[in-house]
Amino acid sequence: MSTAVMTNRFELNSVADTALKAAAGFWFVVAVIGQWAFLYYLVGFYGPSTLTGNFQAWTRNTFLRMSYVRGDTAGNLAFGAHALLASIIAFGGAIQLIPQIRTRAISVHRWVGRVFFVTALGLSVSGLYMEWVRGDRENIVSGLAISLNAVLIILFCVLAWRSARAHEMSTHRRWALRTYLVANAQWFTRVGFLSWMIIRGLLGGRDSLDGPFASFLDFGCYLVPLAVLELYLRAKESGTPNGRFAMAGSLIVLTVLMGVGIFGIATFMWWPLLEGTLK
Ligand code: HEM
Repeated sequence: MSTAVMTNRFELNSVADTALKAAAGFWFVVAVIGQWAFLYYLVGFYGPSTLTGNFQAWTRNTFLRMSYVRGDTAGNLAFGAHALLASIIAFGGAIQLIPQIRTRAISVHRWVGRVFFVTALGLSVSGLYMEWVRGDRENIVSGLAISLNAVLIILFCVLAWRSARAHEMSTHRRWALRTYLVANAQWFTRVGFLSWMIIRGLLGGRDSLDGPFASFLDFGCYLVPLAVLELYLRAKESGTPNGRFAMAGSLIVLTVLMGVGIFGIATFMWWPLLEGTLK
């Protein structure tokens, strides 16, 4: 192989690497904006009502099937704790993915990691309680779908934790990324649904919370992000330059769709709920 061909290949490889890194960075920035908007809503909407015991205020959120139920103290406490614990996931997940924190403040990474794992386990257990004891589920299939989400959160947490303790950093990174995605599945559901509603609406269609897309999201909210992550890791670690360009392009399209969903849910749900203007 001539030197010129080798130089061209080397350059193509490095441009493909840069494109993939830039696309992943774009995804991360948009995801953090969306997760911190979620955090703002969670703290603003559930914080004062839960801490003052005004649980009835939750019923203003007409997107929920079951929030406050008169007389169901255990269920109400489980719901309030669940909604508030979600804010730790929205805040801590982003912190864990910032490379500068991992390299310059490893003890912060370790402590946030421990809190994130314990919180994710608490959310899984309180979620399973609400699904199967309180009976807050759309139907059996959606109940099983979200229960599988809980099982994956617990399993991935254990695997990420074990690999960190064994100092297997490359394995830890993979399991931690998977944990991050499954722990954010309920955020993906909300963002994904609003993105779909807006795009369908622009094309003249309509959908509802019990339509086929919502059923697809029951499993899709964690299986789609996990599949995209596997493709990304393959493209990054062993893909051809063309594969990396294709992955970078796909990530940019998915990020734009995610941005549309974040805009939609913040504008049509979180903000009106905080303002008290949700109709
Ligand atoms: C770590 C991951 C999770 C996070 C961050 C999370 C977050 C939330 C949040 C913020 C709410 C309040 C709804 C809102 O204001 O939008 C909620 C509701 C709920 N969550 Fe989770 N959740 C998680 C995992 C789970 C799991 C694994 C289950 C079930 C096994 C579950 C079951 C529920 C149920 C039943 C509701 C009430 C929904 C309704 O009545 O419409 N969650 N979750």
